[in-house]
Amino acid sequence: MSDLSAVYQEMLAFFKPLWPGEDKPLVLGEGKADSPILMLIGEAPGETEVIKGRPFVGKAGKNLDEFLQLAGLKREEIFVSNVVKIRPTEKGPTGRTRNRAPNKEELSLFTPFLLKEIEAVAPRALVTLGNVPLKALTEGKITVGDCHGAWMNSRAGIPLFSLYHPASIIYRRALAPVYENDVMELARCLKEQAIPG
Ligand code: URA
Repeated sequence: MSDLSAVYQEMLAFFKPLWPGEDKPLVLGEGKADSPILMLIGEAPGETEVIKGRPFVGKAGKNLDEFLQLAGLKREEIFVSNVVKIRPTEKGPTGRTRNRAPNKEELSLFTPFLLKEIEAVAPRALVTLGNVPLKALTEGKITVGDCHGAWMNSRAGIPLFSLYHPASIIYRRALAPVYENDVMELARCLKEQAIPG
């Protein structure tokens, strides 16, 4: 059994009894699990991801495809995952179930497993999408507005490049060129083998 399947087995065993009576399936990471050039880390799966049991499909998958195209990468060359592996939900005003940001409990339960997952996958570099994975992987109070488009150290001991979450661009159109520039800078670093560390 690879390290990664051992980590996932441990996660499944840990989370199965945690929320009795609630249907909270785990959406695990996927892709090149053996020392890929990049591991891309999002926040948490959404509705489509849970239905398909795969990260970054549905709307987020379209964002991922755009990222890959800009960065000159193929999905099978990288590993994609999320900090929180369940879909965090709440009831909206009309009673419909909708996504919400992961809460403190979810983040503290899932972050140690994310660190084990990163260790097992052993990517050359980490790319975080938005504040949730950035905060999980850095000690300080740094936000993506402070450090997007640049390399920094991570708690996992692997260089980290932070990007805005592509979904945030839908609400803040002015971020679209910023995000594109950041991805182009990442592409340049990959091409010129200029990843620090
Ligand atoms: N879907 C994911 O898998 N991750 C995100 O961060 C957003 C949508």
